[in-house]
Amino acid sequence: MEEIKKEARQNYIPIVREETAKKLCEFCRDKKAKRILEIGTAIGYSGSLLLKSCDGHLTTIEKDETRANKAIENFRRLNLLGRVTLYVDDALKVLKELESQGQTYDFIFLDGAKGQYKNYYPILKNLLEKDGVLFCDNMNLLGLVKSEGKIPHKHRSMVEHLRQFIETLKEDKNMSTTFYDIDDGFSVSVKLN
Ligand SMILES: C[S@@+](CC[C@H](N)C(=O)[O-])C[C@H]1O[C@@H](n2cnc3c(N)ncnc32)[C@H](O)[C@@H]1O
Repeated sequence: MEEIKKEARQNYIPIVREETAKKLCEFCRDKKAKRILEIGTAIGYSGSLLLKSCDGHLTTIEKDETRANKAIENFRRLNLLGRVTLYVDDALKVLKELESQGQTYDFIFLDGAKGQYKNYYPILKNLLEKDGVLFCDNMNLLGLVKSEGKIPHKHRSMVEHLRQFIETLKEDKNMSTTFYDIDDGFSVSVKLN
């Protein structure tokens, strides 16, 4: 795992931060997850952590082919590849396919394009089983989501989307959501019915 971390750092690939990773593993372990869905594989760091935290299967989505190939290599090195289904494609497209196939998951880790969370959400809810856990990373986006100041242009639309997504989570009576101000911020939602 340390080597994957180093590889990510050297190639400027963002991976889940340390305290968030600990919590992610804790929630996955407590849930005894059997069917995990991850949006944003990168090179397989968080996916490997999740697999090591339970005995479930991981379905994971990454649009960048180079990263996806690295992820396969890393899963293989860790002897985890047999428990992985990796889709190399746009997440929204794959999510729609999984939904139409009637797939369901008891643990979802959302860590793809931050500006897309809100668009993925209705599908993710359909994919999530009752009592299933939805863990969303980077909900504070470098502190910008809570900032009252002017948002730099390159982050503006992402921040706006995340703010709307947070409101959606708060208002959703079918989900019980807790927001954590740890690292870059994350939320953990449980589907109530
Ligand atoms: C923060 S990284 C994932 C890190 C990984 N979860 C970890 O902690 O090891 C986000 C990943 O999502 C991928 N991504 C971004 N937009 C995507 C999309 N529309 N469809 C699929 N993957 C996407 C990026 O290529 C990137 O590798």
